[in-house]
Amino acid sequence: MEVVIKRDYGQMSKAAAQLVVDVLNTKPNAVLGMATGSTPLGLYQELVRLHQAGQVDFSRVTTFNLDEYVGLPANHPQSYHYFMHEHFFQHVNIPRHNINIPSGTTSNYPAFCQWYERRIEECGGIDLQILGIGSDGHIAFNEPGSSLSSRTRLKTLSKQTIDDNARFFDAREDVPVYAITMGVGTILDARKLVLVASGKTKAKAIAQAVEGPVTSMVTASALQLHRDASVLVDEEAAAGLTMRDYYEFIYAAKPAAPRA
Ligand code: GLP
Repeated sequence: MEVVIKRDYGQMSKAAAQLVVDVLNTKPNAVLGMATGSTPLGLYQELVRLHQAGQVDFSRVTTFNLDEYVGLPANHPQSYHYFMHEHFFQHVNIPRHNINIPSGTTSNYPAFCQWYERRIEECGGIDLQILGIGSDGHIAFNEPGSSLSSRTRLKTLSKQTIDDNARFFDAREDVPVYAITMGVGTILDARKLVLVASGKTKAKAIAQAVEGPVTSMVTASALQLHRDASVLVDEEAAAGLTMRDYYEFIYAAKPAAPRA
């Protein structure tokens, strides 16, 4: 696992965006896995900026989002459909039919989940998956206890996640209790994983995910099983890491990515 420590949120977001651009430079029709939450916002802003400056083209890109709240229609301001449209899709040139987001309102979740998995496969698999991390160490909505080989399915949110996400809703009672989410196994199938984390509320989860044991109690620790996972953190999120000097030494010696 590569650990990249940046001085602040802005630098971290730029470095993460660069990893996405590197993939698009070698594969313009890449399949990107998208994440929601406040952390990837800076990454999306940077990609939008680069796109508007003519430096990155998304016209051949396909996307798959990690998750969606059950019960929220696409036009609900807290739905992940809405979030992605607002913060990313409406600002770049990804063809509409290439955008895939789990449905929060399907009448048949098991069938939808199977279809979503199949669709990822049909598109050739995910080349780069963007991830955030919950304060309980989850990736997507794979809460503590999620099988490390889980696939797209319904998941009940943990109390911690409902508390964390209540800030986006008028009242805690409005936070959906269920979500549809890619599984840890689905995520591990992506060719490259890029996890971003910022702020001191993430320091413990990052330390557990990067330096703790691989455990379903911290599903982000599954990144340790992946051959090409990068964890990008700012100073505050890095606060609990014990091998910091080593990570910085490795990163400083890293050659630049090749261009196509
Ligand atoms: C939600 C999402 C996760 C995200 C997490 C952290 O639970 N399902 O994908 O990583 O929130 O969000 P934030 O970046 O706002 O802390």
